[in-house]
Amino acid sequence: MKIAIIGTGNIGGTLAKAWLSAGHEILLGVRDIESDSVQQLLNASEKVVAKPIYEAAQEAEVILIAVPGQAVFDVAKNLGYVADKVIIDAMNSVGRKPEPYSNTFEALKALTRCRHLVKCFNSTGWENMANPVYGNTAIDMFVAGSSQRGKDIAINLANDAKFATCYDIGGDDKVQLLEDFALFWINLAIMQRQGRNIAFKLLKR
Ligand SMILES: NC(=O)c1ccc[n+]([C@@H]2O[C@H](COP(=O)([O-])OP(=O)(O)OC[C@H]3O[C@@H](n4cnc5c(N)ncnc54)[C@H](OP(=O)(O)O)[C@@H]3O)[C@@H](O)[C@H]2O)c1
Repeated sequence: MKIAIIGTGNIGGTLAKAWLSAGHEILLGVRDIESDSVQQLLNASEKVVAKPIYEAAQEAEVILIAVPGQAVFDVAKNLGYVADKVIIDAMNSVGRKPEPYSNTFEALKALTRCRHLVKCFNSTGWENMANPVYGNTAIDMFVAGSSQRGKDIAINLANDAKFATCYDIGGDDKVQLLEDFALFWINLAIMQRQGRNIAFKLLKR
């Protein structure tokens, strides 16, 4: 699958490597092709190319957005027409909402009119995306959004990144829960000093 990744930092860079290992083609949508993070990813595999954000988004079937929450306006403006693409929002608005929107998902929905927008890969730290396995157990991922197509693709990509199960937590109305869940993880990991190597898994009986 051709995946555009906007944001080549902790999240974008980590998921780029995971999806490359699973055989996907990665199109980095970047502002500066010479930056260290872009060059490192380009050196990692022939299946990575770097392009301006517009070109990467237009060529891809799926677009992962992993930039700081406040950059959502800038990125949305640069994507071009993406109403029929699958967009995966991995952002969190830590500390500051992208006003007048309540979160990045609402901003992307309004600004891009994307019909297949989902929230996924936002609810745990990048270290868990680099390695979702604790002992013999893989942790879980969670996805929200009203597009079944978007969720099916995000679930497959979570499996490709070696998460055990990617649970569908509901439609667009559940997206804020997923962002709050990320803040719950951040609170435990950082403010409550449990460290970043902590993760959630759904247990059933
Ligand atoms: N870090 C985590 O563990 C974690 C976990 C879950 C979710 N998230 C969320 O994921 C997002 C990214 O976090 P991160 O830790 O990966 O950040 P990061 O390491 O700081 O990387 C941010 C990336 O966004 C790019 N960027 C910034 N402004 C941009 C703009 N206006 N247009 C295009 N690209 C822009 C940067 O590009 P340049 O190199 O050109 O500046 C950089 O590649 C955030 O919303 C964060 O809340 C993070």
